[in-house]
Amino acid sequence: MRNFTSVHDIGDIKSAIEKAKYVKENPFADQALGKNKTLLMIFFNSSLRTRLSTQKAGYNLGMNVIVLDINQGAWKLETERGVIMDGDKPEHILEAIPVMGTYCDVIGVRAFAEFQSKEDDYNELIINQFIELSGKPVFSMEAATRHPLQSYADLITIEEYKKTARPKVVLTWAPHPRALPQAVPNSFAEWMNATDYEFVITHPEGYELDEKFVGNAIVEYDQKKAFKDADFIYAKNWAAYQDPNYGKILSKDRSWTVDTEKMALTNNAYFMHCLPVRRNMIVTDEVIESKQSIVIQEAANRVVSAQAVIKEILKDNY
Ligand code: CP
Repeated sequence: MRNFTSVHDIGDIKSAIEKAKYVKENPFADQALGKNKTLLMIFFNSSLRTRLSTQKAGYNLGMNVIVLDINQGAWKLETERGVIMDGDKPEHILEAIPVMGTYCDVIGVRAFAEFQSKEDDYNELIINQFIELSGKPVFSMEAATRHPLQSYADLITIEEYKKTARPKVVLTWAPHPRALPQAVPNSFAEWMNATDYEFVITHPEGYELDEKFVGNAIVEYDQKKAFKDADFIYAKNWAAYQDPNYGKILSKDRSWTVDTEKMALTNNAYFMHCLPVRRNMIVTDEVIESKQSIVIQEAANRVVSAQAVIKEILKDNY
């Protein structure tokens, strides 16, 4: 693997699950791979889990780790080519990325959708420039349209908790006060479609995701119907994808909040969310604090997914 930006880079999904299991059981077995190698983590956006888990994954692999928050202490970056740089951005990304590449062996990038241009977001302008210009392997720590390290951790978690070979997994939209990107639901859908699970997406009308990510999933607009007999409920908010409402909030309808009444419709389902989560908007206190909530275990598996991915990158490129 040279770069990791989606499920398509991970290869066979069953083999990816086995590799993750090995990493989880043997966290320090591959320290020789990372010796004298530097992991550079670039954040254009905030993070708790991705920052800590990826840093820990790098250390588990014996790497040196550098973390840079672009918006805290670095020069403000111009990203458009051809502009006269007489504004408040003193450095162009076209120089900054190759320079960053000289200081490291592997680069992780977090760059969310900005909702200024659907075309720019869905063309992944920022992470693709890192791939093109850094000269180093690049992995996504959440880009504009996907969050593959999260989805890989979600898959590992479902594999650990599933009680049947082919569980019913339901991705449900839930309300949120701010407009959030589609990266997590897009990516989750893409990874679920790579399995043989029964996969259902439920959301209010107007929140349809890009068909490319929906794939073979069943789309059900009746949330209660979707929850029936589910083994896993994966909640997430996202802003509208379809034109002319791209990036907009169409509803904050709290009748979509995941609560105990809806969870009672399921097959004693586990509750999942990538975190951070807005309590009593996305999910009630009762559900997230219940024994069926596996959000902490899910977050813990972010170390495993990051380590499995960086390990493959190190193996294949050094
Ligand atoms: N789930 C996730 O990516 O969390 P952070 O935004 O805190 O990194």
